[in-house]
Order: sequence, then C-alpha cells, then structure tokens
Amino acid sequence: MKIAVFASGSGTNAEAIIQASKKQLLHAEVALIVTDNPKAKVVARAKQHGIPMFTFDPKSYETKADFEQEIVTELNSQGVSFVVLAGYMRLIGATLLQAYEGRIVNIHPSLLPSFPGLDAIGQAFKAKVKITGVTIHYVDAGMDTGQIIAQEAVRVEADDTVDSLQQKVQAVEHKLYPETLQAIITEHCMERLGK
Ligand code: GAR
Repeated sequence: MKIAVFASGSGTNAEAIIQASKKQLLHAEVALIVTDNPKAKVVARAKQHGIPMFTFDPKSYETKADFEQEIVTELNSQGVSFVVLAGYMRLIGATLLQAYEGRIVNIHPSLLPSFPGLDAIGQAFKAKVKITGVTIHYVDAGMDTGQIIAQEAVRVEADDTVDSLQQKVQAVEHKLYPETLQAIITEHCMERLGK
C-alpha cells in the first residue's frame, strides 16, 4: 500500500509515520510528500529520507481545483492509494475528495467536535478544559468534520502551559497516528480482498 503524506509545517507527524513505515510497524510505504509550503521543515525531512515530494504554491493557481488536479495527477503517477493529512493547513476541495473518496484521513489536536480549526491546542488551553486530546478522522468537505476513527484524551494539568500541553498532545499524535493508519489500511486491504 502506497500512501502520501500532506504537511504544511514542521512535519513531526510525517516523521513519525515515515519511521513507523521503516520499522514495519506500519505496513505502508510513504511514496510521496505533498506540501503547499516550500519553506516548511517537512521538505528537509522528505529529502533526508529520499522520499519524492510535490511542492506547490497555491497562489500561483487560479483555483483550488487547478492545483488539486495537479496533486491528483502526481498521486496517481506514484501509485498512491491513501492520503494522510498531517498538519496540512488547507481545506480539501471537491477534486481531491472525489478522486480519493473515503481514502483521506486527517489528524487534529483536540477531541472533536470541540475546538475545530486553527490553534486547537491554544483554544483548549484558553477554554480551561481539564481534558483535551487528539482525533483522527476521515476527511469530508467541512473543517474537521468527517467521521471520527480514533480519539485519545490528554489531561490538562494545573501547571501546564500551552507549550507543555502541545508537547503532550504531539507525543500522543506520534503514536496514535501510525497505529490508527495501520488499522485502517489493514481494513481497506481486507475489503479489497473480499471484493
Ligand atoms: C499537528 O498537531 C496536527 O494535529 C495539527 O497540526 C500539527 C502539525 O504538526 N493539525 C491541525 O491543526 C489540522 N487542523 P507537525 O507538522 O509537526 O506534524
């Protein structure tokens, strides 16, 4: 199974997925990294691991459909059958959703449906919740609204700062995402075999 990881920033989740794949904890090959930010740290990670990369600048396209069509072409040419969003800070449009229907997953740093959108960890901290966490879900046209696949809670302690909370949330992400991907991919392979 070939997967593509989409990221816009640091790419620590992309790294965790690549490492899990190398250690065969995740039975999938990261065949492509897609980024909308040529300056993102994930670019260096892709180079370091020798993983093909598709970098694009959304501003140089007239519409989302235009750049998503190029992404779909690239995904097809690399034989990618599953799309994994890992800090890709852009809503997925109809072109990608149709091409990879039911085969796009996202990770979000809160217990959805609480705190969707940007800066979920900061939102949870400001709201003074005692428990936040991580959600992995299928992607639909909404913002962090697709069907939930897995969630794990993270306790907010009295002495936590936004930074310490972020570290705890990300530590959970780096374990939960590869594990959940392995479960989903196994399920999809079984479904394909059953057909
Ligand atoms: C992760 O915490 C991920 O959950 C979040 O962006 C971070 C990316 O970190 N995604 C969202 O907020 C999506 N709405 P990373 O680049 O180090 O993996």
